[in-house]
Amino acid sequence: VLASITCSAPVNIAVIKYWGKRDEKLILPLNSSLSGTLHQDDLKTTTTIVASEDYTEDAIWLNGKKEDINATRYQNVLKAIRSRATKLQDKKHCVHIVSINNFPTAAGLASSASGYCCLVYTLAQIYGVDGDISGIARIGSGSACRSMYGGFVKWEMGEKEDGSDSIAVQVQPESHWPEMNIIVLVVNDKKKETSSTDGMQKSAATSPMMKERCAVTVPTRMRDIEEAIKNKDFQTFGDITMKDSDDFHEVCATTTPAIYYLNDTSRYIMNLIHRYNKLSGSVKCAYTFDAGPNACIYLPEENVVEVLSLFIKHFPDQDLSTYYRGPKENVEKIQ
Ligand code: DP6
Repeated sequence: VLASITCSAPVNIAVIKYWGKRDEKLILPLNSSLSGTLHQDDLKTTTTIVASEDYTEDAIWLNGKKEDINATRYQNVLKAIRSRATKLQDKKHCVHIVSINNFPTAAGLASSASGYCCLVYTLAQIYGVDGDISGIARIGSGSACRSMYGGFVKWEMGEKEDGSDSIAVQVQPESHWPEMNIIVLVVNDKKKETSSTDGMQKSAATSPMMKERCAVTVPTRMRDIEEAIKNKDFQTFGDITMKDSDDFHEVCATTTPAIYYLNDTSRYIMNLIHRYNKLSGSVKCAYTFDAGPNACIYLPEENVVEVLSLFIKHFPDQDLSTYYRGPKENVEKIQ
């Protein structure tokens, strides 16, 4: 064995959604996006990579199941890492990769984000890659680049054709707004019907809402939400978060053929939150939904007990697993 390293990486939940690519191969987005990174203890991927001269081929196992290492995205990531290697280049070897999520895969819970972030981070440790590696995580899965940092992170869409300026940048560190929490209500952990990759391709090609969203709506929201985060202004933050989630699902609904990720429970939760905020006279919590029916709820610490009580009251029988995030952390090397 030449090297053996284990790392873990957290999930991130976008408040300004990435949806649509301008380059499918390099995974360059049509718009910038912004997310909060979850606590490592809650939703994360753990990856162990062993490099050995005894292995005859590269191989990868995901949650105990062998995957096809020749899949384009794995190959693109491996190539990008090895081209920047400062270690092992002179030794004939292959890598075995074992990756485990502590949550349901492909249920719209951003498993590809923590997964590819962790894969790239661990590979970078094995091969001694310096400098920005969020751009390499990006070519694995777009949203993965944002999991490279803790706190609030934006993925700058960039302009260059080679994608070198399409990278993740930390907007605020985890220490800036430690009172911020995220609760994930698992409405359904079955695999989603339309993958994000397919869905966004169809939306970019057919939804009449895309143009305005990319040209005007998202750039404005990016500016405003960055400012809200800086000022720890939850009212503005929550407003923008819910609006962008609504718009994203509207884009999906206006795609041909239409894509629906939300179900009745999701819509019940949205309604409940709007009514609860209205009754409270302020934004106490904000929902956001990715490419699936599960609700991610951003809220300040002081509202956690009240909001959780509300959900327990309204879903007494439903198995709504909750994950709870304190201050956020970064990717880390375990061993
Ligand atoms: C709805 O990053 O999974 O979660 O780049 O094709 O791998 P690929 O897509 P992916 O898309 C995530 C879409 C989203 C919004 C977001 O996380 O910004």
